Amino acid sequence: MRGYLLAIFLSAVFLYYVLHCILWGTNVYWVAPVEMKRRNKIQPCLSKPAFAPLLRFHQFHPFLCTADFKKIASIYGSDKFDLPYGIRTSVEYFRLALSKLQSCDLFDEFDNEPCKKCVVVGNGGVLKNKTLGEKIDSYDIIISYFMKRKFFIHHYIMNNGPVLGHEEEVGRRTTFRLFYPESVFSDPNHNDPNTTAILTVFKPLDLKWLVELLTRGKINTNGFWKKPALNLIYKPHQIRILDPFIIKTAAYDLLHFPKVFPKNQKPKHPTTGIIAITLAFHICHEVHLAGFKYNFSDLKSPLHYYGNSTMSLMNENAYHNVTAEQRFLKDIIEKNFVINLTQD
Ligand SMILES: *[C@@H]1O[C@H](CO)[C@@H](O)[C@H](O)[C@H]1NC(C)=O
Ligand SMILES: *[C@@H]1O[C@H](CO)[C@@H](O)[C@H](O)[C@H]1NC(C)=O
Ligand SMILES: *[C@@H]1O[C@H](CO)[C@@H](O)[C@H](O)[C@H]1NC(C)=O
Ligand SMILES: *[C@@H]1O[C@H](CO)[C@@H](O)[C@H](O)[C@H]1NC(C)=O
Ligand SMILES: *[C@@H]1O[C@H](CO)[C@@H](O)[C@H](O)[C@H]1NC(C)=O
Ligand SMILES: *[C@@H]1O[C@H](CO)[C@@H](O)[C@H](O)[C@H]1NC(C)=O
Repeated sequence: MRGYLLAIFLSAVFLYYVLHCILWGTNVYWVAPVEMKRRNKIQPCLSKPAFAPLLRFHQFHPFLCTADFKKIASIYGSDKFDLPYGIRTSVEYFRLALSKLQSCDLFDEFDNEPCKKCVVVGNGGVLKNKTLGEKIDSYDIIISYFMKRKFFIHHYIMNNGPVLGHEEEVGRRTTFRLFYPESVFSDPNHNDPNTTAILTVFKPLDLKWLVELLTRGKINTNGFWKKPALNLIYKPHQIRILDPFIIKTAAYDLLHFPKVFPKNQKPKHPTTGIIAITLAFHICHEVHLAGFKYNFSDLKSPLHYYGNSTMSLMNENAYHNVTAEQRFLKDIIEKNFVINLTQD
């Protein structure tokens, strides 16, 4: 009798794995992952940040770790939400993606400064023709999120010519860069080995994409709203997965989005800029902003400091609530929770 039960149990386990392999289209499931733990050596910053009234938790470890992401999710309620704001029904996708990474650390082991001064660099067209670069480079932490931050520097070096690079506008350093499959760049010349690249996960497919890239599997590009990157310039040790709790905090606590949208409306999600600010609120003591300004009365004004997109592109966006975001930005600047570096 026992033997039968054991056999049934073992075949159930086997079936479970086989189903997973089919689901993922990979055969990498047999490799036992090394449990990735966070190293919590940094002492907490003792003075209270200006933006503390906005948050329920400050100094929250923002990256998921294999060893405890389920436990953390149940403490912070992320196990009660599906993606994009929680891990419910996607736990195995998260686990597999995390098993391909090598670290979930926030800062490197030699860093023992508990109170950090951070700048979040937006991609607003206002950075055009400004010379904030040197100032931006002077912060402890520089958080950025869009693809082209280094493009023109590369352009400048490669051509070795009179093309003025954008380093004057946005600086050279990037500590953290937020990305998603549709936004990450794939030209290896853009890789700064000192940058930690943070995946913001919106759908299970984003995790599958990461796993496929890191295991050199075939990339299935169906189901993305724009063609995702087909290679990753970051090494596994540079990559982290953002805890959906950060995005949930941005959506519900900071932007006050409703939890349910009417059927005829697409649910609104925070833009990466607001997610970057929310991340900064959880790991920094002082937060400054650069490049957060959009001019909606001039739809022809530049949207970014690079390329040719104009404001009209942002205005049409059905997935974001730009009005709510503008109001939030204005509010945190007026209350001196953050400092607005952008000059007129
Ligand atoms: C930036 O400067 C260039 C050249 O001086 C000018 O053509 C362009 O209109 C300026 N852009 C903005 C946004 O001020
Ligand atoms: C990375 O950081 C090291 C140590 O701070 C520095 O020497 C190096 O120049 C940096 N590399 C780049 C590409 O910025
Ligand atoms: C926005 O654009 C309009 C139209 O070009 C211009 O008159 C206005 O000064 C701009 N506002 C800001 C804050 O730059
Ligand atoms: C922007 O437009 C100019 C002129 O139309 C074009 O030469 C340039 O390649 C465009 N740049 C980008 C990034 O699309
Ligand atoms: C956007 O947010 C504002 C302010 O919170 C709200 O009044 C408006 O109804 C929202 N719009 C949409 C389309 O969700
Ligand atoms: C930051 O300050 C500039 C210059 O005063 C202003 O134009 C811009 O709108 C401000 N940014 C935000 C998000 O309010």
